[in-house]
Amino acid sequence: MTKSSQGVITCKAAVIWKSGEPPKVEEIQVDPPKASEVRIKMLCASLCHTDILCCNGLPVPLFPRIPGHEGVGMVESVGGNVTNLKEGDIVMPLYLGECGECLNCKSGRSNLCHKYPLGFSGLLLDGTSRMSTGGQTIYHHFSCSTWSEYIVIEAAYAAKVDPRISFPHASFLCCGFTTGFGATWREVTVEKGSTVAVLGLGAVGLGAVAGARTQGATRIIGVDINDMKREKGEAFGITEFINPKDSDKSISELIKDATGGLGVDYCYECTGVPALLNEAIDASKVGLGTIVLIGAGLKTSGEINYIPLLCGRTLKGSIYGGVRPQSDLPSIVDKCINKEIQLDELITHEVSLHEINRGFEYLKQPDCVKVVIKF
Ligand SMILES: NC(=O)c1ccc[n+]([C@@H]2O[C@H](COP(=O)([O-])OP(=O)(O)OC[C@H]3O[C@@H](n4cnc5c(N)ncnc54)[C@H](O)[C@@H]3O)[C@@H](O)[C@H]2O)c1
Ligand SMILES: [Zn+2]
Ligand SMILES: [Zn+2]
Repeated sequence: MTKSSQGVITCKAAVIWKSGEPPKVEEIQVDPPKASEVRIKMLCASLCHTDILCCNGLPVPLFPRIPGHEGVGMVESVGGNVTNLKEGDIVMPLYLGECGECLNCKSGRSNLCHKYPLGFSGLLLDGTSRMSTGGQTIYHHFSCSTWSEYIVIEAAYAAKVDPRISFPHASFLCCGFTTGFGATWREVTVEKGSTVAVLGLGAVGLGAVAGARTQGATRIIGVDINDMKREKGEAFGITEFINPKDSDKSISELIKDATGGLGVDYCYECTGVPALLNEAIDASKVGLGTIVLIGAGLKTSGEINYIPLLCGRTLKGSIYGGVRPQSDLPSIVDKCINKEIQLDELITHEVSLHEINRGFEYLKQPDCVKVVIKF
């Protein structure tokens, strides 16, 4: 890293130049933070499935771009108007903020703040980027871009975290695990004694399993086409495992078979396979069942099965599990520090930033859950 007299930092980052191309680790320039922003020296980051979508130009094809929306770092410098953070603070860069004053924040029922929204423009709130290479603008990913040695974000999107937390754990809490976990008590409330099915046991699905267990669900059915996810699922709380590849029946038929024909109270779609949304609808109880859509796919879904949904089921979409960065996240962080939630099982691979492409290869291996990037 070098710092110019204007405060511009030259450092390394993983840049995607074109949709579908692998990241290239190269030198970039990171501007100093503007008045309401902070610059962060990244300490650790991780790969979420949604980063793969970003590398493929979804939801918007903005390139060159630096992916990454999970990570933890140390505040290097703060803008003149920032009062809640200071140099040296350990922070999690998030893709949602919480102003506490907008319609959604005030409702207490949504984490999708109007003032600090999930951003798809690839730019910071003032409509510009803080990253460039050789004078060419580089787009951000959401409000962050954690696969870079240094990043600049709006201070309202940075959550100060107790430095006792393990850095990989903090990184997972920025998206994957928290999304599933929160979706069992923030997005919808899984009641004690419920039956739950979770389709897809990646970090998101395992978070939903852990959340359902914490909420007191009596049966938690994990569904995955990868047999190695059975053991992971059991570590987080599944009571039974279904591999749909072992049967000619559909996932919904298999779940109904396991539940006396009724289906489950709550079904979580965490695979990102569009066709499985209809399976999740069919696998939930007529009149009572709730389906939570979390998975995001490269393709959008075809038609939603209209009649089964009409039959009294509730479909709820979820971003970040409904978790509010200020009001809810600290309690999850505390659970990790107190080891009420144990996230070591999620760590399967580690790479340096320079080895990011090896990280993408690891993602294809059946034993992979989370790839951690150490800076
Ligand atoms: N809504 C949100 O806020 C949010 C946040 C994070 C991730 N996501 C999305 O959630 C999904 C899961 O993310 P992840 O990081 O856990 O991904 P992941 O790739 O680690 O996990 C997906 C799991 O689904 C399994 N799977 C794939 N196809 C299947 C099928 N046909 N039947 C059963 N299981 C199948 C895989 O074997 C894998 O274990 C992705 O689509 C991601 O983009 C959404
Ligand atoms: Zn708000
Ligand atoms: Zn994510």
